[in-house]
Amino acid sequence: MSRDSLQQKICIQPRNSPAEDIPYRFPAHQFKYTFKMTTKEKLIQHVLVGEPIGSQNKVTVVGVGMVGMASAVSVLLKDLCDELCLIDVMEDKLKGEVMDLQHGSLFCKTHKIVGEKDYAVTAHSKVVVITAGARQQEGESRLNLVKRNVDIFKFIIPQIVKYSPNAILLVVSNPVDILTYVAWKLSGFPRHRVIGSGTNLDSGRFRHLMGEKLHIHPSSCHAWVIGEHGDSSVPVWSGVNVAGVCLKSLNPDIGTDADKEDWKKVHKMVVDSAYEVIKLKGYTSWAIGMSVADLVESLVKNLHKVHPVSTLVKGMHGVKDEVFLSVPCVLGNSGLTDVIHMTLKPEEEKQLIKSAETLWEVQKELTL
Ligand SMILES: NC(=O)c1ccc[n+]([C@@H]2O[C@H](COP(=O)([O-])OP(=O)(O)OC[C@H]3O[C@@H](n4cnc5c(N)ncnc54)[C@H](O)[C@@H]3O)[C@@H](O)[C@H]2O)c1
Repeated sequence: MSRDSLQQKICIQPRNSPAEDIPYRFPAHQFKYTFKMTTKEKLIQHVLVGEPIGSQNKVTVVGVGMVGMASAVSVLLKDLCDELCLIDVMEDKLKGEVMDLQHGSLFCKTHKIVGEKDYAVTAHSKVVVITAGARQQEGESRLNLVKRNVDIFKFIIPQIVKYSPNAILLVVSNPVDILTYVAWKLSGFPRHRVIGSGTNLDSGRFRHLMGEKLHIHPSSCHAWVIGEHGDSSVPVWSGVNVAGVCLKSLNPDIGTDADKEDWKKVHKMVVDSAYEVIKLKGYTSWAIGMSVADLVESLVKNLHKVHPVSTLVKGMHGVKDEVFLSVPCVLGNSGLTDVIHMTLKPEEEKQLIKSAETLWEVQKELTL
């Protein structure tokens, strides 16, 4: 068969309009390849020599439960990564969640969404968000989850370290302060690359409730809840302010039993809020997902923003034990680079030390 007749055989397609009915002629030097060329090869000329650089801002979410998926979607909607990776032990659920997110690719700006049971898929992650593990049942405390989730971490952490030795670990699973300590010990990572989502959520809840009371947006209601994420968290009443005006200077009894306006109830509602939401819908997800994306944003965009997150606090505010608790920390693309020294009242320091002692009692029994 002559070259011309072969080309015609390959290339002349039925067209809609007579104007398009012109045979495409490949240049002579490409002729030998035309027989086997795919549509993609005919459409695209590859220019890059060698391997592509690959993803620069890969975020992995371990655990595709309620918290993992809320975190993943929040990260996607904020355009925080160029690759999102999901991992879980439940293969069908994982596959379904990955496909479902991929089908939304057109509507977001993350080029690649992947997920596999095998941890090789997590390789070269910049940030790894760990949400895997058992969650509280109605009325169950966070501390009660510890044994089950430590066992799960013993499986997860070595795999993450193997494939992403330079990643920043962001621990979300509960009890988050203890599990951040566990992740730090099991990973061998430096302390600045192991962070617990801590009281970033509790502070968000507090600022929302404060905003409701004052009819002001939470971003203008400044308040810090520190210490344990959970029952013994500490509201720093001495620092609660709007536009630099300390509420304590207007109401010296704020946060105490003597306060006629009962501001203490705001913190009580923060502590009770997870129990309340779990009672109503079975789990908490959206607020923690958004809080995770807020932290991931500071890390990947190198924002140097200050967040209340869980870090090693031994030696701070009179804490003697090797425990992780939330204090205001600076987050950037190296991880948690600095801790802000809060000027706490003696009563607030006492509460923080009590939190530390509660955690240490549980932690010292762990075999890692
Ligand atoms: N830090 C916070 O502020 C905060 C807030 C809410 C929930 N949480 C905690 O987040 C965790 C997840 O909660 P949830 O509601 O998403 O639970 P969930 O039960 O919906 O999801 C947990 C997921 O973890 C997966 N998993 C279990 N073992 C695994 C392993 N070895 N490797 C990978 N994946 C594994 C499960 O298959 C499941 O998909 C719980 O510990 C919960 O208490 C933390």
